[in-house]
Amino acid sequence: MIDLRSDTVTQPGPAMRAAMAAAAVGDDVFGDDPTVNRLQDATAERFGMEAGLFFPSGTQSNLAALMAHCQRGEEVIVGQEAHTYRYEAGGMAVLGSIQPQPLQNLPDGSLDLAMVEGAIKPDDSHFAITRLIALENTIGGRVLSRAYMADAIALARRRKLSIHLDGARIFNAAVKLGVPARDLCAGFDTVSVCLSKGLGAPAGTVLVGRRDLVERARRVRKMLGGTMRQVGVIAAAGLYALEHHVDRLAEDHANAQLLAQGLAAAGLKVDPVQTNMVFATIPAESVASLKRHLEANDVVALVSPRLRLVTHLDVDRAQVERAIDVFASFLQIRAATAAE
Ligand SMILES: Cc1ncc(COP(=O)(O)O)c(C=O)c1O
Repeated sequence: MIDLRSDTVTQPGPAMRAAMAAAAVGDDVFGDDPTVNRLQDATAERFGMEAGLFFPSGTQSNLAALMAHCQRGEEVIVGQEAHTYRYEAGGMAVLGSIQPQPLQNLPDGSLDLAMVEGAIKPDDSHFAITRLIALENTIGGRVLSRAYMADAIALARRRKLSIHLDGARIFNAAVKLGVPARDLCAGFDTVSVCLSKGLGAPAGTVLVGRRDLVERARRVRKMLGGTMRQVGVIAAAGLYALEHHVDRLAEDHANAQLLAQGLAAAGLKVDPVQTNMVFATIPAESVASLKRHLEANDVVALVSPRLRLVTHLDVDRAQVERAIDVFASFLQIRAATAAE
């Protein structure tokens, strides 16, 4: 099986499982779990932030962060494509009574900062109180540069707003740019860092940031039922991932490039690739037959007219080459059938 659906599908390998089995644990509700504490401190330190807090998922970490920043009736300016806005079941509105102010993302994934500034509401009782800007990096595999993020942070400071980063794949951005995560993220009030995407841990996200905000997020995590007990067994996987799986993201990026080149050479229209995600356009009438062809050849993908393929820890170069062959054979069969 070559599973290209997402970088979340990885299996913990033997060394990660050994680290989990050997983890010292304690009741994290009492702050007693030494492995959780080590993970929180190590992640905060890596990002140059004051504090860190372990969450079961990226969704919950983002939500707790937004609720730590915004009170009921306050507003966050966020991209239409942002995970926090589009793919988290409206949690900020449902559970946080936070009003999202979505803006269209530019083709590079960024938000136009003049539009962001224009969306900040005046101090007038008609309006929700704009409190926060939320960015995402990487977003749909695209990298926001340090210069862009620094401009967004400067805007937030000038307009007395907070700024949060959904950094579910921030290490993909850091590796791509060749910039340490702490330099890339300097100035954000909070950053949500997933361990279960490209880093290959089975679960877990650390919210890092200003201590007062992290302490507020701790209360929200409790409210959301996300505070766990002897969870060092999971945190150990996160520590292992941070220590062993960051630099190797460059391999996933190289494999994504290879995949994109192979698909383009086979005749598909493919977007330029920056990190570990490849987007290709599939004619709507070919979706069902491509799905069948991939299944028959042990390639797993979420097939739609805008096909997204993701490289990760459990897909090596040889498997990428095989996947390219499977796509190429599909296109050859399609071309031959069309010619008949
Ligand atoms: C950019 C981004 N943020 C947040 C999340 C949420 O993470 P989780 O699935 O752990 O809740 C995801 C999940 O894929 C994501 O892609």
